[in-house]
Amino acid sequence: MTDRLRPLISAGRIKKRVAELARHISDDHRGAPLTLVIVLKGATVFAADLMRRIDTPFIIDFVRASSYGKAARSSGAVALADDEKLDIAGHHVVVVEDIVDTGLTITALIAALEKLGPESVDVCTLLHKHVDGAKPVAIRYKGFDIPDEFVVGYGMDYAEKYRNLPGVFRLKLAD
Ligand code: IMP
Repeated sequence: MTDRLRPLISAGRIKKRVAELARHISDDHRGAPLTLVIVLKGATVFAADLMRRIDTPFIIDFVRASSYGKAARSSGAVALADDEKLDIAGHHVVVVEDIVDTGLTITALIAALEKLGPESVDVCTLLHKHVDGAKPVAIRYKGFDIPDEFVVGYGMDYAEKYRNLPGVFRLKLAD
């Protein structure tokens, strides 16, 4: 049996929404030092599109959040991608995420970043999944709200598969 994919958000809708988010981020940060902190690996496709639409100067950096692997729930453990510290003191930081689900990952990440002395830390996520008992997270820049189903595509994976799909799909696993 093969996995079943059902379309949820088309590439066209994503493109339009990404442009709106980029305009919003640009307008909020003109004249201010801006760093995009991109969460590996799932947010890379979103971030690549987003950053090409931002029209005010910024720098980028990466962090790695612990992976789902083949599990269905995140652990919330977060680690910086390299040994080197992020140089974000005095910067307005926008964390770029693919999806906020339980909120554990982003909450841990914000706490880690805040220790580095940024001027502000805001969240930009393509998707916000609505799950019962999730941590409330303030999301300043949000692409789409989605139901509590596992999704793949546009950078998001299941066991490293499906990142290359141009849109977002619900995944039903083969039995
Ligand atoms: P959280 O800590 O539960 O909010 O999980 C956030 C992270 O888990 C995201 O950055 C994704 O990497 C991953 N994740 C959560 N839900 C999904 C999903 O439906 N598909 C793929 N990855 C997901």
